Amino acid sequence: MPGNTTESLKVWDLPTRVFHWMLALLVFANFFTGEDEGGLLIVHTYCGYLIGLLLIARVAWGVAGNRHARFGDFLKPWSETREYLRQLLRLSPPRYVGHNPLGGWMIVVMLVSLGLIVFTGMAAAVGEGVRIPFLGGLSDGVSEASEEIHEVAATVMMVLAGLHVIGVLGDWLLTGENIIKAMVTGRKTPAEGMAPAPAIGAWRGAVLAAFVLLGTGWMIDQTRFENVDNEHEEHAEDYDEEDEEDEDNHHERYDDDD
Ligand code: HEM
Repeated sequence: MPGNTTESLKVWDLPTRVFHWMLALLVFANFFTGEDEGGLLIVHTYCGYLIGLLLIARVAWGVAGNRHARFGDFLKPWSETREYLRQLLRLSPPRYVGHNPLGGWMIVVMLVSLGLIVFTGMAAAVGEGVRIPFLGGLSDGVSEASEEIHEVAATVMMVLAGLHVIGVLGDWLLTGENIIKAMVTGRKTPAEGMAPAPAIGAWRGAVLAAFVLLGTGWMIDQTRFENVDNEHEEHAEDYDEEDEEDEDNHHERYDDDD
């Protein structure tokens, strides 16, 4: 019976699925925390680190991971991509065990865009007075230009994510395979000629998970929100001074009454 777990095909391994849903969540979170210059800037920066390290881990997994997670499996030559596009335009795209050729190239575009967004975000934060590891000596010019690129690339990313979801829904509609469910369970309905991918050692995924967690922890530890903190302290000092003045006035008024 199609969709039955005993007959379904294991396609997406755990690292690929965890990577995907964490990435989707963090990218959305960062889209809505980017404008803030206060406490949310800290959340935005830390989520950005996590995205950056997840990207590095995904690239490593694309070389050393399970079959369908590998770039070599889903990056198809132009001739095959064109043929896929032709069939897609006839509304009868073929089913693929892993990513279809168009989806595969879209993934590269998204990964590269996200890498650019993370790098320019870190460079822009330097301009805001944040101490970012590896980017200590960055000039004001570079960090200002990075801020512009960061904002444009983040907007482009939202468009890409929208196209990506439309592509996913379109694939589901045209092939009948619910690939959103597949990205959750890791399993697809087998069809003619589809074979399961041999599993590889879980330790590789564990090494990458440790790299992402420890790397993010280290980056956070090395980061200082000097000016951001100062701003808060300055505000706090202004506030205290105002309070003291108010209190003095109050006492004076009280004394006059006497
Ligand atoms: C900003 C948000 C998102 C980003 C950056 C993103 C990015 C990606 C990336 C990089 C992949 C490739 C996974 C891999 O091989 O490692 C992927 C695949 C996939 N994504 Fe997303 N995604 C986002 C949101 C979503 C949402 C909201 C959905 C569901 C509605 C979704 C459904 C899928 C599915 C089903 C696949 C597998 C496609 C296939 O079978 O070829 N994604 N996405």
